[in-house]
Amino acid sequence: MALIIFTLRLAIGILLFPMFLLNLLGLWNQICKKWFPYFLRRFTVMYNEQMASKKRELFSNLPEFAGPSGKLSLLEVGCGTGANFKFYPAGCRVTCIDPNPNFEKFLIKSVAENRHLQFERFVVAAGENMQQVADGSMDVVVCTLVLCSVQNQEQILQEVCRVLRPGGAFYFLEHVAAESSTWNYFWQQVLDPAWYLLFDGCNLTRESWKALERARFSKLELQHLQAPLPVELVRPHICGYAVK
Ligand SMILES: C[S@@+](CC[C@H](N)C(=O)[O-])C[C@H]1O[C@@H](n2cnc3c(N)ncnc32)[C@H](O)[C@@H]1O
Repeated sequence: MALIIFTLRLAIGILLFPMFLLNLLGLWNQICKKWFPYFLRRFTVMYNEQMASKKRELFSNLPEFAGPSGKLSLLEVGCGTGANFKFYPAGCRVTCIDPNPNFEKFLIKSVAENRHLQFERFVVAAGENMQQVADGSMDVVVCTLVLCSVQNQEQILQEVCRVLRPGGAFYFLEHVAAESSTWNYFWQQVLDPAWYLLFDGCNLTRESWKALERARFSKLELQHLQAPLPVELVRPHICGYAVK
């Protein structure tokens, strides 16, 4: 099986040779960082349509984590275009972090469309090192479709725990590896290297639930589901929340 996967990857590599060459020359990343926000803006419309009820259900208990003032301080890591804003409760104080500065103009548009939120600031940084965010300053941290792309899941989850106040919660909704005995997993493995380059460092075969289980949360509510998306490769999902 490993040989078949290798051969198919090689064939795809030949077909997409210009992209792999640009990557070897160190140019692909710059192109990708510019085009990806435009792609994501379109993808988000479709994703939010298909996943609206799941997102509503997931975020329904957010207000329970509001601090003593009654306001909810929320940090969105890997915010992208601000796809989750419309699902947050009114008055929520939102801080956003993303390593790609090209998302800012899309984020500003989402802020303008979601006047029910109190937008705090956009920080350009990776989730592995969120030094601009103080210890214990957040009631809630959110990551959606981010753990597939980060360099180091353990480090992000450590940072999430650092910025959350005791009793605060981490919400996640992520596409993950399919079951290893399925054709979907086979194709995820075949397409992973090309997918990674095309979609700004996204991995198809991450078993992100394992990192969440290993992280030091006091409670973890985690559900596996098949998202109703047109592309089967990204249908296997996990979602839920963890309490610090
Ligand atoms: C597929 S997009 C998802 C965006 C948004 N969360 C959503 O649900 O539409 C992945 C996002 O993760 C960001 N990202 C990639 N690596 C990251 C890292 N190390 N830390 C934080 N965000 C990261 C990307 O820039 C991008 O905005």
